[in-house]
Amino acid sequence: MDSFYITTPIFYVNAKPHLGHAYTGIIADAVTRFHKLMGRDTFFLTGTDEHGDKIVKAAEANGETPKEYVDKISGLFQQLWPSLKVENDKFIRTTDAAHIKVVQDVLQKVYDKGDIYFGEYGGHYCFGCERFYTEKELVDGKCPQHETEPEYIAEKNYFFKMSKYQGWLIEHIKKNPDFIRPERYRKEVLSLLESGALEDLCISRPKSRLEWGIELPFDTEYVCYVWFDALINYISAQGWPDGDGFKEYWPAANHLIAKDILKPHAVFWPTMLKSAGIEPYQHLNVHGYWLIKDTKMSKSLGNVVEPLEMIKTYGLDAFRYFLLREMSFGQDASFSEEALVGRLNADLANDLGNLFNRTLSMTHKYFDGVIPAPDDAEEIEDAEIKKLGQNSMETFQAEFEQMRFARALEGLWELVRGLNKYIDTVQPWALYKNKNMKRLATVMYVMLENMRKIAVHVWPVMPEAAVNMLKQLGVEFDPRKVDLSKEMDAWGLLDTGTAVAETSNLFPRVDLPATDEQGKNGKQAKTPGKGKPETELFAEFEDFQKLDLRVGTVVNVEKHPDADRLLLVRVDLGEADGPRQVVAGLADFFQPEDLKGRQVVVVANLKPRKLRKQLSQGMILAVKNGEKMELLTASGNVPEGSKVS
Ligand code: ME8
Ligand code: MG
Repeated sequence: MDSFYITTPIFYVNAKPHLGHAYTGIIADAVTRFHKLMGRDTFFLTGTDEHGDKIVKAAEANGETPKEYVDKISGLFQQLWPSLKVENDKFIRTTDAAHIKVVQDVLQKVYDKGDIYFGEYGGHYCFGCERFYTEKELVDGKCPQHETEPEYIAEKNYFFKMSKYQGWLIEHIKKNPDFIRPERYRKEVLSLLESGALEDLCISRPKSRLEWGIELPFDTEYVCYVWFDALINYISAQGWPDGDGFKEYWPAANHLIAKDILKPHAVFWPTMLKSAGIEPYQHLNVHGYWLIKDTKMSKSLGNVVEPLEMIKTYGLDAFRYFLLREMSFGQDASFSEEALVGRLNADLANDLGNLFNRTLSMTHKYFDGVIPAPDDAEEIEDAEIKKLGQNSMETFQAEFEQMRFARALEGLWELVRGLNKYIDTVQPWALYKNKNMKRLATVMYVMLENMRKIAVHVWPVMPEAAVNMLKQLGVEFDPRKVDLSKEMDAWGLLDTGTAVAETSNLFPRVDLPATDEQGKNGKQAKTPGKGKPETELFAEFEDFQKLDLRVGTVVNVEKHPDADRLLLVRVDLGEADGPRQVVAGLADFFQPEDLKGRQVVVVANLKPRKLRKQLSQGMILAVKNGEKMELLTASGNVPEGSKVS
């Protein structure tokens, strides 16, 4: 049996899971299910990345020890997957003893080979990315991911001779055109590798600066750099070097990541493997970023999409379908509830849902709800729809194999729409009226058998709906008994004489959510104090709890370009994506220099808005004192992001 191994990134436990994490998990799951139906022996790995500076910072901001904190957030990921029907075979944590052992073994191996040396280095370190940037990689002196100024750090550290493998890696990528896919990312990596000398990789952190990591086996004063540790999860999870899992699955390894972590996966990881004498992975599959109406999704912008909220409102299958259908693999895509509702109503309710509703109800009307035996005679329409079905399934399978999910689904929907047209053309109701029951039986069978094929094909994408669709057709679904690759040519797998469901109603149409301005759903905005009873002026404790008040340090202040009274204040709240901008009406009271370095209290979850074209993500609390203004702050210095409670 062929093997197939797929991995997601192991996610940082510095924030709870959002749409982006859910997406990678869902496509990994869909791909796994697809390969299962293709008869392959699959292994799906996900997990959490738990070491490094940024975890320590997040734990501190929450007043917890790193261990307490990582247990909690890792738990959120572990709980998330079943509710998205993401069925991984293993969940790895980099704090697992077995993983730690493998990391140390790999380090020792690379060290013994002479590929690790001790040296002094100064560089621009981005805490959000947990990596050093070269001068060349910075944009206007800032980290291109986080748009924050990195910190210059100089210290003695261990280095991995990554540069030694530059030539080999270029060759390998050239010889294996689908090593990195889609093509644009392969090109990006090649041009990076060919544009100049590759630097060596700093792989240690002195314990004096960071203790939360895996100790180097050859120097107990140092811990391992978090990326060197994290990447190894893909083989430690399979019991490298001797585990059966490693032997079986590693040659078929497919990594799935977004473009944000291309370099560690395309450059660090293959060179690490090469040095340790391990074969490279088979494919690196790189997807784009989900944007929220064209802007980056981030906690500080307050536009983070919570997957669990989405499935509560729209259903899991519709959510999964939308994610796979909407994003062209490799490119960025925009997420909006409007677009989700649009697809749900058009593709699912209208096309697929109606097909099932119509056909099941006709089967009941014309054949007492029992699948009729088709007549041998085939009309031209039947042959045409079969051909269309074959093409459509071939497209689906070929595109899915290449992880081009949108094209795969588009291909399959040719058949869904084709069948709806087929009904309109052959007009079963007219056949019934003319008592042409033989022909009618054939027509109904063509419909039902094709619907079975569709249901089987959508199982990787919509596992719950697919099982229901098949149940409605009287089929008990067992993925191990399906061979998707034979479905194009198979005919007559649906048993005649079986009862089908009376109604389907898989995907009811939904309305767009009401916006605040419309004031629908009875959520009329309340104006306190205007003729309301006294008690409404009190805030409930829950109301207070809704406010996320945090202490942060002002790192930069500028005058608002278009408003005299406003300042653009950048406040560091200890967030992974860097300081955020707050537009504050403080210009009459403070000079920018007065504010720099001060700790302030910020309403961190205030809905972001633009003030004179400048984005404001929060509010700084201050108190007026006659003509003067005083800032609220903590009585002593506290870590950035500490919660006020
Ligand atoms: O980078 N759109 O972890 P991480 C699509 N621990 N996908 C997104 C996304 C978005 N807007 N935001 C996040 C790390 N993702 C390291 C990985 S692996 C050895 C170590 C997804 O928590 C996407 O898969 O920052 C991206 O690559 C990943 O989350 C980054 O997760
Ligand atoms: Mg990240």
